[in-house]
Amino acid sequence: MLRGLLIDLKDQVKPPLTVGLIGVGGFGASHLKALGPLETEGLARLVCVADLADTPLASTRRTLESRGVRWYSDYKSLLEKELDLDALAIAAPIHLHMEIATAAIARDLFVYLEKPPVPLIQQLDGLLALDLHKKVAVGFQLVNSQPVQQLKLWITQGALGEIRNFRVGGCSPRSTVYYARAPWAGKMIYDGKPVFDGPATNALSHWLHNIMYLAGGKMDEFGLPLDVEAELYRIKPIESYDLIGMRGHMESGASFQYVVTHATEEAVPCKLEVVGSKGRAWVFENGNVPGNDLGLLESAQSCADPFLETWRQFVRFALGTQPRPATRLDDTRGYVLATNAALASSGGIRDIGQIWGESRQNACQPGLAELVEQTVQEGKLFSEMKVDWSRSGKSIKIAEWLPSTYVTRLGYFHKNSFT
Ligand SMILES: NC(=O)c1ccc[n+]([C@@H]2O[C@H](COP(=O)([O-])OP(=O)(O)OC[C@H]3O[C@@H](n4cnc5c(N)ncnc54)[C@H](O)[C@@H]3O)[C@@H](O)[C@H]2O)c1
Repeated sequence: MLRGLLIDLKDQVKPPLTVGLIGVGGFGASHLKALGPLETEGLARLVCVADLADTPLASTRRTLESRGVRWYSDYKSLLEKELDLDALAIAAPIHLHMEIATAAIARDLFVYLEKPPVPLIQQLDGLLALDLHKKVAVGFQLVNSQPVQQLKLWITQGALGEIRNFRVGGCSPRSTVYYARAPWAGKMIYDGKPVFDGPATNALSHWLHNIMYLAGGKMDEFGLPLDVEAELYRIKPIESYDLIGMRGHMESGASFQYVVTHATEEAVPCKLEVVGSKGRAWVFENGNVPGNDLGLLESAQSCADPFLETWRQFVRFALGTQPRPATRLDDTRGYVLATNAALASSGGIRDIGQIWGESRQNACQPGLAELVEQTVQEGKLFSEMKVDWSRSGKSIKIAEWLPSTYVTRLGYFHKNSFT
């Protein structure tokens, strides 16, 4: 007993938490920014970073080095040399999450892993088996936004009655510049590793994870899907998909629907609506306040910057002053299961770009945004909307489904790439 206590005290991380960051460009810049206030508060200190893009980041490197932050060109040398680190943030491309997180867990570091945690459920289960001390958090920061917290409060307090349905619809156009910014963008596999980049599995993944969060029974619980039926389509000339319609049931008994795309001309902010036996509540992407049709008052704490708040919670968790981060690695199981089952259910991505011929490069089906909205309103998949390019998937019962065999059979992922 005493021995256990001594070990606990010895292992306790003292502020400031020493942090390393892998991936400085792209979204890594937001991590650098969030770490600023945490350093001022004395909670964390960035001591080293790694990014292989040395030249484009030359000015960032100079600034960081002038503050004493050590720069490495790859995560392996960083981990080899930095022996006093407490935590590692991983904002590297998706196909590298698995190997970098594995290396960080082997060092027994606290890990802030960007969303999506890893592309495949087999990889997630592999990481979960390694993360024995539950030190990995995943950066789905929108669960911390005030409107999502408010929805969760209304749900858990029973204000909406028995929850029957969660639904998300949204269109977030992406240009060729977006797909050209990184070699892994729009890919299913890059460098022999699964990426599964697309609206549900990258940019708009927050909104699927939000459904999983809201379907969890308690404030800090996340739900799991029971069954999934989905259709994935490719409109732009990319390897991956840019339009997805998904439907299913959660273990809670509620149904869910999630329809998003990158292939419209116009942006339609994601709307997440919760339908209960007493009434409805909803939240819009970038919206500051949730809506409801019951006249319910708001009681959730305001949160000006969900990303900074998610970082702060991670740091407090690592310092032992908070029991858990906002999203633990095991909380993402519902999200990863849903995306993997969606791909398997679809029978593979259906290429419908030829309908737009030459113009597919510039995206966008006229009327696609309206169609997305209509499918969500009617609770249907595209194949049920009588559009001639559609192809129905088959419903997958998660408990009977063997993800490894399903996903490998699709030919987009090779078994050897799963490490
Ligand atoms: N939480 C959010 O809201 C949010 C928003 C955007 C992106 N992301 C996530 O952030 C991650 C990075 O996405 P991105 O769009 O910024 O990617 P990106 O490719 O644009 O940038 C990633 C950075 O990592 C660097 N990098 C690449 N390979 C590396 C390696 N082997 N070692 C070290 N650095 C390496 C690149 O040079 C680049 O600077 C992804 O997981 C993405 O899903 C999260």
